[in-house]
Amino acid sequence: MTNWWDEWYTLRAKKEWYLARSAYKLEEIDKKYDLFKEAKVVLDIWCAPWSWLQYISKLGQKRGTDQLEQVIWFDIKPVSIMLPKVVTYAQDITDRPWVSKILEDHNIHTIDVIVSDMAPDTIGMSDIDGIRSIWLIEKTLRMYDTYLKDWGRFAIKVFMWPWFEELIRDLRWQYWHKNIVTFKPKSCRKKSKEIYIIKRY
Ligand SMILES: C[S@@+](CC[C@H](N)C(=O)[O-])C[C@H]1O[C@@H](n2cnc3c(N)ncnc32)[C@H](O)[C@@H]1O
Repeated sequence: MTNWWDEWYTLRAKKEWYLARSAYKLEEIDKKYDLFKEAKVVLDIWCAPWSWLQYISKLGQKRGTDQLEQVIWFDIKPVSIMLPKVVTYAQDITDRPWVSKILEDHNIHTIDVIVSDMAPDTIGMSDIDGIRSIWLIEKTLRMYDTYLKDWGRFAIKVFMWPWFEELIRDLRWQYWHKNIVTFKPKSCRKKSKEIYIIKRY
């Protein structure tokens, strides 16, 4: 049965030329937590078909100041896009040495904001899908440690499958406890198990 609320976001995305309705999730997170405040360098991982990138690129125009210097983008799928200040790589984000090399080639040693909209290929068995999802996130967490500035922020999509609570507990332990929060944007599909872990500042 059609869920009209879900459908409304899909139609809105078409009308506003977003490649996916996911853009509204990022917009909600940004509005609530001021995710991109004063951000100069942004890393967007797992990002095809790049609706988040479209949102990030428009930020300067929306706010009247464009402090963004560089947005770097990784997805395993190649995409050819031309957006100002955006560099894109078809790269497996779990391949740390390559990712580090690419960041170094761009002279990126610290990052203000990392956004991660990861979605594994699911098979419908929640335990296995849950393990895959957490495994992929765990593989990238060291990168946050290495590159994120002290006051840096992140938004990571996770699925409320097994080990989700443990991941949050670990992140709260690793970062300042009260700065790690969870948030489910209204624009997420109603039946979806996804939720975002935010490091705010
Ligand atoms: C939900 S989509 C991201 C949507 C995006 N944020 C947007 O706004 O359009 C998840 C993406 O993760 C990518 N992905 C899955 N495994 C990956 C990996 N190991 N390395 C890089 N990207 C991967 C998929 O190709 C897919 O495009």
